[in-house]
Amino acid sequence: MERRHFIETLSAPVLVACAVCMGACSKSGGGTNTGGTNGGGTGGSASFTVDLGSNLLAVGSSLVQSGVIIVRLAAGNTPASFTAVQVACTHEGTAINYNASQNKFICPNHGSTFSTNGAVTLGPAAANLKSYNISISGNTMTIAG
Ligand code: FES
Repeated sequence: MERRHFIETLSAPVLVACAVCMGACSKSGGGTNTGGTNGGGTGGSASFTVDLGSNLLAVGSSLVQSGVIIVRLAAGNTPASFTAVQVACTHEGTAINYNASQNKFICPNHGSTFSTNGAVTLGPAAANLKSYNISISGNTMTIAG
């Protein structure tokens, strides 16, 4: 078999497999997404809703959608009970996690930490996380910014 023919023979199944994988990997969170982008290290614009009747029920729980991580910090469905910041670390873009016992965001890549309002508390990240506006009507939370 010629080298070119061998590569052509292999490439078609690989492309199909990649297309299937890409489709399977594109899943959104528990709310209704009406748009949003992630700037890859900087917070992009976002606008979406989250149903608080079935999401973020426990204090300390979090949800990631449209490049934003939303955390319930306290009981009650008021904006002050939640925080919403960009999920991409401002250092190199790794997805941060909320640590409930330490009440802060921690980047698993190089260990940067951020307060619940997104301010850097430990580097190497130098820039704060973008913070998003939260409004709530009934059980519907709207994230925008
Ligand atoms: S990517 Fe987050 S600290 Fe480096």
